[in-house]
Amino acid sequence: MKKKVVLAGGTGFIGQYLEEKFTDLGYEVVIISRQPHHIAWSNKTGIISALNGAEMLINLAGKSVNCRYNDKNKEEIMSSRTKTTQILGSALLACETPPPLWINSSTATIYRHAEDRPMTETNGEIGTGFSVDIAKAWEQSLFDYQLPHTRLVALRMAIVLGAEGGVMKPYFNLVRFGLGGAQGSGNQMFSWIHIEDVYQIILFLQERTDLEGVFNLSAPHPVSNREFMEQLRKAMNRKLGLPSPKWMLEIGAILIRTETELIVKSRWVLPERLEKEGFHFTFETIEKAFHQIILKQQSIS
Ligand SMILES: NC(=O)c1ccc[n+]([C@@H]2O[C@H](COP(=O)([O-])OP(=O)(O)OC[C@H]3O[C@@H](n4cnc5c(N)ncnc54)[C@H](OP(=O)(O)O)[C@@H]3O)[C@@H](O)[C@H]2O)c1
Repeated sequence: MKKKVVLAGGTGFIGQYLEEKFTDLGYEVVIISRQPHHIAWSNKTGIISALNGAEMLINLAGKSVNCRYNDKNKEEIMSSRTKTTQILGSALLACETPPPLWINSSTATIYRHAEDRPMTETNGEIGTGFSVDIAKAWEQSLFDYQLPHTRLVALRMAIVLGAEGGVMKPYFNLVRFGLGGAQGSGNQMFSWIHIEDVYQIILFLQERTDLEGVFNLSAPHPVSNREFMEQLRKAMNRKLGLPSPKWMLEIGAILIRTETELIVKSRWVLPERLEKEGFHFTFETIEKAFHQIILKQQSIS
């Protein structure tokens, strides 16, 4: 019988990448999603039978945070994370042969705005505010479950970089239009991780049956926003890039219906646990990541 992996919310940027990788490894990939050709969130028996005998459940579901934080969006950002997690937890309890590993997304935004020192799993301080409340409730809804046969892991992901989607397209456009300077003060830290390393970490966690709990997924060399933009301009051969001061970001965010927090919060996170456990990053520096992303982008466009 084919090995099986279940991707919940597996139709997005990270899900599609993982679907391709696991398919290449010979896995049957089963997706739970709101789209009609996948298993629906309301289909309890379908979810239970998908999970039975699977090697792993990876939950990526969540309304994008790239929107205005009005009441309706806030409610959906929260419930699309906590309720989907609860549906999966209840389904696992009903499984005869549940997967030995449940990986749920979380976010590095759970830590406070940090310009003074990096946050690790052991010494990081949890922040305050809407995005942090989401992250806390999301993790809580995972760790509320105690499953005798399934390890639980929450991935506190930094901003995921890859040619296939996510934030790279808007950043490429800013640089192309000559706006590739620092955003806000430029001093805010930009913690990031290459999407291939996200996939490799999932394989690492699958193999290492002694590991569970919370992991920071961020490259070991985070950069400031100024350095991120500088390296991107360099990789794209653009000498000049106008900066965007905070007031300009505020206006722009309203126009494109997003929030400046996504750009100006200083996310300074280190992958202390993964490094201690011996994980080796393929893309440990931003130069290396941009080099691969730009080559890949050229090959797919
Ligand atoms: N990409 C990053 O930089 C990053 C960083 C940290 C954390 N994360 C988290 O990691 C997860 C995956 O990231 P991603 O970049 O792959 O996100 P994405 O491209 O936006 O995909 C998220 C998936 O969630 C599902 N979804 C959206 N709204 C939903 C709703 N109201 N109810 C149920 N499902 C819903 C969608 O699936 P259907 O439309 O098929 O239902 C979508 O494919 C997200 O939860 C995200 O918050 C991402």
